[in-house]
Amino acid sequence: MKCVDDFRLRLGSQELVPIMIGGMGVDISTVEMALEAARLGGVGHISDAMIKTVADRHSNTRFVKDKLKLYKANVNNPDKSSVQFNLGRVAEATKLHVARAMQAKQGEGMIFINCMEKLTMNAPRETLKVRLTAALDAGIDGITLAAGLHLSSFGLIEDHPRFRDAKLGIIVSSLRALQLFLKKTARTHRLPDYIVIEGPLAGGHLGFGMDWAQYDLATIVAEIRQYLLTEKLDIPLIPAGGIFTRSDATAFLEQGAGAVQVATRFTVAKECGLPQAAQQEYFKASEKDIEVNQISPTGYPMRMLKNSPGIGAGIRPNCEAYGYILDSNGTCTYITAYNREVAAHPGARKVSVKDKTCLCTHMRNFDIWTCGELTWRLKDTTRKLADGRYQSLTTEHIFKDYQFSKDNQIALPPELNSQ
Ligand SMILES: Cc1cc2nc3c(=O)[nH]c(=O)nc-3n(C[C@H](O)[C@H](O)[C@H](O)COP(=O)(O)O)c2cc1C
Repeated sequence: MKCVDDFRLRLGSQELVPIMIGGMGVDISTVEMALEAARLGGVGHISDAMIKTVADRHSNTRFVKDKLKLYKANVNNPDKSSVQFNLGRVAEATKLHVARAMQAKQGEGMIFINCMEKLTMNAPRETLKVRLTAALDAGIDGITLAAGLHLSSFGLIEDHPRFRDAKLGIIVSSLRALQLFLKKTARTHRLPDYIVIEGPLAGGHLGFGMDWAQYDLATIVAEIRQYLLTEKLDIPLIPAGGIFTRSDATAFLEQGAGAVQVATRFTVAKECGLPQAAQQEYFKASEKDIEVNQISPTGYPMRMLKNSPGIGAGIRPNCEAYGYILDSNGTCTYITAYNREVAAHPGARKVSVKDKTCLCTHMRNFDIWTCGELTWRLKDTTRKLADGRYQSLTTEHIFKDYQFSKDNQIALPPELNSQ
């Protein structure tokens, strides 16, 4: 049987190892992880989710403090419509983050940025245009348009000098979503360079309803492949969601996929942004510890570990500092849910909000442990140490396991004392 390394992803004139590490916000797929993927000849993603906070963490900037200072007087006001992002500062933070990756990049691979449309930032169109433009300005190899239909995203950057040379891809979960996208972007005469097809087992937000379990990645990939054949469109398809071993990956590649996008296996890598304590929770999880729920204020179902500290926490909305999910009217369903609980419990020092979560603060603090459906298998990808903890892996080890392993096996890391 073939292995993943027998295939190549062709993007324009470039040939890549057909492994793409998916974007994982907020700063879960770090610059360091993306750099490893590129060094090994594949594609790594950074994410522009909560870009100011991420820039502050790594570049010694004060974007978040400065914004909070500006809007401090509004903290107790349930109306957040006055809390606006300064577009110049968003551009600055994006450029810092992207440049940190691109300046350190080595090897034949590429680094893309994952841009989620659902981060509406109180001015969806204007902020998205700045995010996309700044990433291109800073030299990103490609942009993956995620979490949303992105019907006008190509139009936002069609005047950019890199519009036709940077790689642009889209994540869809159905043929219908792809058809809509292609129809709406036809006037730009620019097709996506790749299409990530994300199935129901993926981590993060899902492009399905709560009936996600009725869908199947292979079926959606086959439908989309047939459509592209009929339309005579030659665009690499990149399935994602539940591709856990190189055999899973090879099965898709043998059926004509251009590459695979994978993420869950990398959540326990040393280069991953998740703190070590959270990574141990991912290792320990069993099937019953993983759920898809509707607590994300984006309106999309999201998969996470049930013991995520952010579930049920009733913290005060922190939109003056963050505010990434505020819609164009300055509202977010978490604010509504929080205010409802505060009104129902007069005088209480703390409330619990069960139906929604403050995604910005909790993702920023790594307190919502979003994960793929197969997270419960992570424990089989490493060694259990004498103290009961699981041994952390390197991005290189996981990447090469996907690339080279044989016979449906998952290679364990070298024992710690022999490293
Ligand atoms: C921890 C985690 C965070 C994620 N965050 C994002 C994200 O911010 N944006 C996005 O488009 N996809 C996100 N995803 C989805 C992945 O990029 C990827 O497409 C998918 O999880 C692949 O399936 P797998 O995890 O089963 O390998 C996330 C996945 C995980 C596991």
